[in-house]
Amino acid sequence: MAKQRILAFPEGFLWGTASAAYQNEGGNTNTQMARWEQQGHFAPGVQCGEAANWWQMAEDDFALAEQMGNTALRLSIEWSRIEPVEGHWDSAAVDRYRAMLTDLQRRHIKPVVTLHHFTEPLWLVDRGGLAKETNRRFFVRYVTHVVQQLGDLCDFWLTINEPNSYAFAGHLGPYPGERNVVHTLHVLRNLMQVHVEAFYAIRRLQPEGQIGYCLHYRLFDPAHPRSPLDRAVAGLHETCFNWAALQAGETGRFPFPLNLLLTPLAHAPGSRDYHGVNYYTRDLVRFDPTHAGELFGRRFTRPDALHGDPGMDNHLSEIYAEGLYRVLKTIHRRTRDNKPLYITENGMCDALDDRRPRAILEHLAMVHRAISEGIPVLGYLHWTLVDNFEWAAGWRARMGLIELDPLTQRRTPRRSASLFGEICRANAITEEIVARYAPEAVDSIFRPVSASPREYSAPSPSQAGSRP
Ligand code: BGC
Repeated sequence: MAKQRILAFPEGFLWGTASAAYQNEGGNTNTQMARWEQQGHFAPGVQCGEAANWWQMAEDDFALAEQMGNTALRLSIEWSRIEPVEGHWDSAAVDRYRAMLTDLQRRHIKPVVTLHHFTEPLWLVDRGGLAKETNRRFFVRYVTHVVQQLGDLCDFWLTINEPNSYAFAGHLGPYPGERNVVHTLHVLRNLMQVHVEAFYAIRRLQPEGQIGYCLHYRLFDPAHPRSPLDRAVAGLHETCFNWAALQAGETGRFPFPLNLLLTPLAHAPGSRDYHGVNYYTRDLVRFDPTHAGELFGRRFTRPDALHGDPGMDNHLSEIYAEGLYRVLKTIHRRTRDNKPLYITENGMCDALDDRRPRAILEHLAMVHRAISEGIPVLGYLHWTLVDNFEWAAGWRARMGLIELDPLTQRRTPRRSASLFGEICRANAITEEIVARYAPEAVDSIFRPVSASPREYSAPSPSQAGSRP
């Protein structure tokens, strides 16, 4: 009998899921997102409500993560619970987080704690939020308090989730923020500087902690690879959205053209212990002189691509596994291999779970490929454990390994949950696992090949997406 092929992951590789307080806990009404919903900026009926009710029952889902053999779980702390009023610390909220983290420790699941995942308390929002430079001190004070209170239960911190998508989606997209490009870029800079200051505050309290942040990496490929104009605008999109933040975090300096507006960050070099990588999709970009608002590029999804569920925020459209490999490789090259990488988010919208098993396998095969080429990827956190409240897409977007009925709070594990559990427990993808969950992908999983360059025509403007 032929030998079974296997993609084995390094010993100690972290396996788990990622989530965020607002999207899971429920009842976080003291934030700008809740206010935004109440003001009716999202589609009718898009309401977070009780979310996945983690404030009451996160431990039930942690038990499911344990059953899946997960060794890590990323969650976030809700600032508006810890400091509901300026300078007032809520000890009951701290106790609740202590209970959650203790439960994870008991299950041998490493907590990865995010300190800012898009939401901010209203008192801060009313003073301009973290978009404003003079407010950075409030974040540092809050972070210091959290690490003092919870530092005995956590040593893996993620300061700011996706400074780039928070700046771009919040200030140019569908979320709270000013619709102004110059302001958006200043928000990006301020969030990167906030990270640096929080990094040193945590470092002082916990010298052995792992401290970093994650960026949202989205690929922008030219619609016509041989067109210099398409290549130029696609490159500009990638620079502005991905690489500017990565480079500024590394060197303090923003690349051209952002450096025309943004002054260097102070004390940035060395202010992270790992690179957090959130990856979902790519866009194709075609030069369009009438589209100045989007840097003269019209973005669209490859028409013949495998897609997530239709009608979502377009950052969840094409399911493109090779992009994860490309992103890992580019980060590694651009940062000269200076730090380990963790995939802090990767997932897809698939209510029926008929594409996710294959997609998980293919993305993980790409992670394995990166590792086998010497890129130090130390963990993979899937977005997400149970269906959560997906911001502007609300409950239409189903990204959980476990299905959730938000009305009854009933959980139903999807097939992807048992697949992910098998992979985590084996610390490997075996041919036998692939044959059971996605037999059509056996060859692509064990012999990944690059797609040859192709040309795509841009759809009409109405089909083109709007984020970032
Ligand atoms: C965000 C998550 C979100 C996910 C899927 C990421 O950019 O960090 O909060 O749920 O995308 O949309």
